[in-house]
This record gives sequence, C-alpha cells and structure tokens, in this order.
Amino acid sequence: MSRNMKGIILSGGAGTRLHPSTISISKQLLPVFDKPLIYYPLCTLMSANIREILCITTPESQDNFKKLLGDGSKWGIDITFEIQKNPNGIAEAFKIGKNFVGNSPVGLILGDNIFYGSNLEEYLTIDPINFKGAEIFAYQVPDPQRYGVVEILDNKAVSIEEKPSKPKSSYVITGLYFYDNQVLDIVNQIKPSARNELEISDVNRVYLEKNMLNVKKLSQGTVWLDAGTTTSLLQASQFVQTIQERQQIQIGCPEELSWNKGWISDNAFYKFIEYAPKNNYGDYLKKIWKEKLI
Ligand code: DAU
Repeated sequence: MSRNMKGIILSGGAGTRLHPSTISISKQLLPVFDKPLIYYPLCTLMSANIREILCITTPESQDNFKKLLGDGSKWGIDITFEIQKNPNGIAEAFKIGKNFVGNSPVGLILGDNIFYGSNLEEYLTIDPINFKGAEIFAYQVPDPQRYGVVEILDNKAVSIEEKPSKPKSSYVITGLYFYDNQVLDIVNQIKPSARNELEISDVNRVYLEKNMLNVKKLSQGTVWLDAGTTTSLLQASQFVQTIQERQQIQIGCPEELSWNKGWISDNAFYKFIEYAPKNNYGDYLKKIWKEKLI
C-alpha cells in the first residue's frame, strides 16, 4: 500500500455555459482575478499535502495546461497529464487515472472549484495510511437543485441525489472528494446516467450503501465557489480581489504554499522573485520574501 495520497484535478469538459469565452480556451485557464482558475484547486490539493497530481484535460487544451503548470517541479510537486476525449462524466477520472492512482488513496478536485477558509487545512488533513472509505464535503446553498444533494441526519448521510427537482436538503456536495483505493473498482460497477455520464454521485452512493461515506459539513467560515457560469466566475474574481486586497494575502499561490511547506528551498523561491512579473502577484512574492528575511 502506497503511503501517499494521489490527487487528480479534473479540467476537461466543454465549458458550454461560458461560451463564447471558452470556445478557444479551456475554462480552467481563464483568470479568476489575478491568476488562472486552475491555480485554486491545485493549491487546495497542495494544502492537503498531496504532491503527486494528475491533471486531466481535453485533447485540444493539454498543451496550454502543460505550458502553464509544467511538471510541477518548480513547486516541489509532480504533475502529469492525461486526456479525457469526451466529457463522459466526473467519475471517468478514475478510469483515466487508474495507472496513476495505482494502489493509493486519491483526492479528486474539479478544476473550477475554489475553496477558501482560514481553517480549511484542518478539514483537509487526511492520514493516507489509515484512510478508509470516502470523505466528501457538504455546503449549504440556496439553490441545491443545481448540484449533487446530500441529506444528512444526525451528522450521517442518508441519501444522495444528483440535481433533484425536489431536493431533500439544502446541503450540496462540493467538488472535492477523497476516496480509498476501492474507488477504482467502484467506478467499473456504475453505469452511465440518463444524461449519459458516469456520475460522481453514483460513486458516493456506493460508499453510502457500504456505510463507508463520511460527509463533513464545511463550516460557515469557509467559502466554496464553483466558477462554472459567467456570473459565478465574476463573483469568484470579485471575492478573490476583495479578500486579497483587504487581508494582504494571496489565495491560490503555489509558490508561497510550496515554500511554506518546505517543498522548495529558499534559493528556489528566490528564483521566482528574480523572474517575478511586474505586477501585484510579483510584488506579493517579493513582500513575503522580505518578511521572511526580517
Ligand atoms: O460543483 C459541484 C457539483 O459538480 C456537484 O455538486 C455535482 O454532484 C457534480 O455532478 C458536479 O455538477 P456540475 O453539473 O457542476 O458538473 P459539471 O458537468 O459542470 O462539471 C464540473 C467540472 O468538471 C467542470 O469544470 C468540467 C469538469 N468535467 C465535467 C465532466 C462531466 C470534466 O472535466 N469532465 C466531464 O466529463
């Protein structure tokens, strides 16, 4: 049994809800305020101490993702790439990523999901050696019918439905999922849904039926944004701008995260400063470098 949790960022999909903006560029490469959308889920996986990451993209966009992320070594992580030919469903990630996952547990994050919260790292601390079953995160929203809905009684999930017309609860399942290695078998048991997708909700339902699904409610201090529509993409940008400028921090900054975690040396971090863009992002890297030297 491998000791490390692997991570998958699912960055495929046609992005039709953002057309025409996503006709020639992938949604997850669009900017959310001052950096590409994919930086945010990447940093969420890094916060969970996941350093081996598979990025699944459409065939057309893979080169652009490679140009942006490289092999991850600049951030002390290992990024590899696979292609999803057609958007056959979120759960297909585990078929595509089977060899990458090997015999490890795995965290999956959707490439358009942004998580932010001061105590988020606590939620994400999973011991990969003893991890069993599945762990998913629920968030209360006013429009649950747009999502996977989880009904929770006495802190336990009792039902899961994908985009129900009459939701049984206002808790929806966010796009961050941790699974033990069984997920590689479970994905072979589920059948495509009425919309012809391998549904992640069906995977979660199998874990629920096995009594192995742990649902954590994200606290009120945590913000979850799914930047899949023009309105939510703009709101995400506004949110990031407001927090960053008021708190003088960066959300989704892999350079800072890898340096703080000791995954890259001071020298390696200094290289970012030498080549830092002449803008707020670059100024921020210089600021944290100076602060550490004091
Ligand atoms: O955002 C959370 C929700 O994500 C969950 O509550 C739902 O249970 C889950 O099904 C999903 O719902 P969406 O309708 O928002 O999924 P969507 O089809 O928009 O896909 C989400 C992201 O995953 C999107 O960035 C594109 C990517 N994707 C999706 C599919 C179906 C792929 O890369 N490949 C795919 O085959």
